[in-house]
Amino acid sequence: MEHELTIEKTKEPKQKPDQNNLGFGQYFTDHMFLMDYTGEKGWHDPRIVPYAPLMLDPASMVFHYGQTVFEGLKAYKAANEQILLFRPDKNMKRINISNQRLSMPPIDGDFVIKAIKELVSIEKDWIPDEEGTSLYIRPFIIATEPCLGVRPSNHYHFIVILSPVGAYYPEGIKPIKINVESKYVRAVQGGTGFAKTAGNYASSLNAQVEAKENGYTQVLWLDGIEKKYIEEVGSMNVFFKINGEVFTPALNGSILDGVTRDSVIKLLQDWGVPVSERKISIEELYAAYDSGTLEEAFGTGTAAVISPIGELNWMNKRMLIHGGNTGELTKRLYDAITGIQSGKIEDKFGWTVEAKTMNYTS
Ligand code: COI
Repeated sequence: MEHELTIEKTKEPKQKPDQNNLGFGQYFTDHMFLMDYTGEKGWHDPRIVPYAPLMLDPASMVFHYGQTVFEGLKAYKAANEQILLFRPDKNMKRINISNQRLSMPPIDGDFVIKAIKELVSIEKDWIPDEEGTSLYIRPFIIATEPCLGVRPSNHYHFIVILSPVGAYYPEGIKPIKINVESKYVRAVQGGTGFAKTAGNYASSLNAQVEAKENGYTQVLWLDGIEKKYIEEVGSMNVFFKINGEVFTPALNGSILDGVTRDSVIKLLQDWGVPVSERKISIEELYAAYDSGTLEEAFGTGTAAVISPIGELNWMNKRMLIHGGNTGELTKRLYDAITGIQSGKIEDKFGWTVEAKTMNYTS
């Protein structure tokens, strides 16, 4: 791959949004990173250019057969204007796992991390510093060959866009209400559940809309065969604290291997809190609730960080968890993860990396 990154700066910088009202994914910075792929040349022409709409052939294969993958990571402004990324190597590994599942070409993760550092450095004034805010980084790949035959595309764009964000859920970091989905399924083993690809999210929307109509913010998915075992929430992995022990569904091929999920497991192990990855049935969860041993529940994700779950509803059986309030362990994890990410707490795991410019010529 050609590694000559070129930079073209915008002549019309945009006005920056109010940091206290960012929401999630509504504002985009002044520049983006792009590179192209063809079977003949491989990945080539890496460039940072002004943020702008794309010109694409309407026959581009992504529009017809959904060949696309994406990632999500965040940049934080630490003390002394230092910019920190959180475990970007994990995202690069995962995008190549997704690429492989979608018959798409792998990217050079080390090079893309350098390009992301450069892009984020150029956009450093867009990184918000209010509590609970960050700069969300969205790398994605789309199939661009104009062709209506069903086969892997021979052309792709890899793009990185940036968005200053606040909390993912409108509740902020207050506990959310989740509906346990009993009609639709998200993924089955052998499918694409472990990959970050648009189709997984498109097929989840019906259930999300129906949950919202009934007053629930998100959907908790059960396994696609028996609708018995807990898998994940729409945009998060899920954890339960039962009788002093923490459980999360094991990675089984249909669950996303979350970066925050992995970080929470490592933090809990470090703190000496018993944590295990295993199959958990929804009946087991209700039995724990009925016996008074279900102590806390929370979701984890890059966008959602650590999100307390205050209520679960499964076939009209409601569970109010921790009285609908944030549990102590959930809060401790939120403080630890966000503290490490923003450089306020010592990072003894070596998870954060500094984003510095490499001073490519503009
Ligand atoms: C993330 O947490 O980065 C995600 O990709 C979730 C997203 C679908 C909002």
